[in-house]
Amino acid sequence: MFATVLHNLTSPVNVGTIVRSHVAFGGAEVVFVGLDKPWRFKKNTQAFSRRLERLCEITYLQNDDELFTWCGDRKYSPIAVEISPTARLLAEFTFPERPALIVGHEGRGLSEAFLDQCDDAVVIPQFGDAACLNVGISAAIAMYEFRRIAPGMRNITRNKFSVPSERRVASP
Ligand SMILES: C[S@@+](CC[C@H](N)C(=O)[O-])C[C@H]1O[C@@H](n2cnc3c(N)ncnc32)[C@H](O)[C@@H]1O
Repeated sequence: MFATVLHNLTSPVNVGTIVRSHVAFGGAEVVFVGLDKPWRFKKNTQAFSRRLERLCEITYLQNDDELFTWCGDRKYSPIAVEISPTARLLAEFTFPERPALIVGHEGRGLSEAFLDQCDDAVVIPQFGDAACLNVGISAAIAMYEFRRIAPGMRNITRNKFSVPSERRVASP
């Protein structure tokens, strides 16, 4: 089980994208940190969330202290998804049982002081000349990696093609 934490995110496109991925990967709570008002899911967000926020338990926290208390109370391990010299490579990281996957502001990211308070930080390797990935993409990659070897895949339906959950790719 995982929670997704959006730390000071401002873009409706990114928020909608992350909520959609969160639901697709079977996340539990979605947490917004740093807003003085609850996030407004308007048309421009819902075009990307596909209105899936209706399936989420959403929590709004005002600051980092509230976040770390929330994680402790709910037995979540705060795991920052961030580019940092101290972060572990995502593919080599052993996830805790209940990670709260935290992604940062589109411009500022997460600070080193914030990372110091997390249990761990993970970085997604990059191979080309881009300073960083989009935050919504980063969140989805981290969710996928957490889920990659976990059981419980559901049938993918309501698409042009369906994928039954018992489908397995043959090992080489
Ligand atoms: C666009 S980045 C912010 C970068 C910011 N301009 C900076 O230099 O710190 C927004 C968020 O995307 C995530 N992110 C982007 N690329 C990443 C990567 N390669 N590995 C892990 N997280 C990444 C992090 O959560 C980051 O806080």
